[in-house]
Amino acid sequence: MTSQSPRDINASRDIESPVIAKPSETASNIANAQNAKKLFIKTYGCQMNVYDSERMADVLAPIGYMAVDTPDDADLVVLNTCHIREKAAEKVYSELGRVRKMKETKESEGRGEMTVAVAGCVAQAEGEEIMRRAPVVDMVLGPQTYHKLPEMIARVARKQGNVLETEFDTLEKFDELPTTRDPKGFAAFLTIQEGCDKFCTFCVVPYTRGAEVSRPVAQIVAEARDLAKKGVREITLIGQNVNAYMADAPDGSGEEWGLGDLIKHVAKIGGIERLRFTTSHPRDMDDDLIETIGNEPKLMPYLHLPIQAGSDKVLRDMNRGHTYEHYKNLIAKIRAARPDIALSGDFIVGFPGETDLDFEQTMKCVEEIGYGSSFSFKYSIRPGTPGASMPRQVPEEVKSERLKRLQDLLYTQQRNFNHSLIGRTLDILVEGIGRDGGQLFGRSPYLQGTHFDGSDDLIGQVVPVTITGAGRNSLTGDLA
Ligand code: 5AD
Ligand code: SF4
Repeated sequence: MTSQSPRDINASRDIESPVIAKPSETASNIANAQNAKKLFIKTYGCQMNVYDSERMADVLAPIGYMAVDTPDDADLVVLNTCHIREKAAEKVYSELGRVRKMKETKESEGRGEMTVAVAGCVAQAEGEEIMRRAPVVDMVLGPQTYHKLPEMIARVARKQGNVLETEFDTLEKFDELPTTRDPKGFAAFLTIQEGCDKFCTFCVVPYTRGAEVSRPVAQIVAEARDLAKKGVREITLIGQNVNAYMADAPDGSGEEWGLGDLIKHVAKIGGIERLRFTTSHPRDMDDDLIETIGNEPKLMPYLHLPIQAGSDKVLRDMNRGHTYEHYKNLIAKIRAARPDIALSGDFIVGFPGETDLDFEQTMKCVEEIGYGSSFSFKYSIRPGTPGASMPRQVPEEVKSERLKRLQDLLYTQQRNFNHSLIGRTLDILVEGIGRDGGQLFGRSPYLQGTHFDGSDDLIGQVVPVTITGAGRNSLTGDLA
């Protein structure tokens, strides 16, 4: 999968944001209106939630909502939640406690009402329970219902009681969402596929996001064109199983297009200089996609391809549908097609039945493959998934020890990879001003945040930077 975090369909990739990015045109227009209502959205979890939060703001802008940075004074607070691990799901209830206090203060001081909504995967999985446990919540809306927000808000305003919407109709959602976007900067996510049919035994996604559904090519192209028109230079095509993408060719030939065809098509859009896609499944990595990775210059040389574990027995118990050997051969093919590619992966330690020997296979996999970056987690029991009722659950202390050993290795690889870039000149997409001021902040082809001195008229451009320093997560350099 995929599930990456605060930008994780793969949970918790800690992506630093620049201080200044392009002001949002729509939001600033609305901000001028004295009577704009204030919308605060807090996003947890993966890139798909980041995308969904932006789309909720797009749906609400025409009915007078302006996005704000703090919840205190907001008329509408939306928590866009993540259910991938227990910790992520628990955060919702503690955040709702804080929101309740803010709502009480706001209303007791006569500053108007605050409507509270819970969206995302916790909403889908635990809707009724949220309503019961947290009476402060007015609306619960699952990931396929965001286009209905205006109507739901109207129902709450008419005091018709609490509103719960958890229907699954992914295509209806995409048909109903506005065709235009209000991008926040120069790099944007674009959902092309949602849901998952793989049913890995540890994962809630097939239950919270539903079956695999691909958006029509024309809709994706229209959205990408709109983004390009508004200054976006880099698009990441996202999906829970993005390389399971399959849709009718737009020429009416009756052919089916996979992700490789779609990438080649989107790459032709003027203004789009860089493309990425995430998250892929090893089972859906077909030859056409590998050829596209090799030949499409706009595609960045960075691939997130999770294996989760190195032992064939654990892979089988996880229902991943492939062996370590299959994965290793796939990586060899991809590296042959694109020698400068860097890999990133997701790993789970302590899946039920994982022995010391199994875990050593994960360590061996990491040593053999070599990752530029990675995300690693202790197995977290998710109610309703097959893994939850498997025998031989691994004790917490063992999971912690294994995670520490794995992360020591992964972080060393990440540091070494970043160091290997010193002296090279990389194309950096300049996203804004760095936190220290006077410096620019951008992203390398490998997604590291990169700081360097330069004038702010470079913001929004791709510029060559010679790398002079490297830490675990970021790079520094000089304009070449
Ligand atoms: N426990 C721990 N990690 C999980 N992931 C998904 N479900 C679980 C779970 N139950 C991880 C996988 C996936 C990433 C997004 O989150 O590594 O690829
Ligand atoms: Fe990814 Fe497996 Fe979860 Fe599907 S079930 S989203 S493939 S981890």
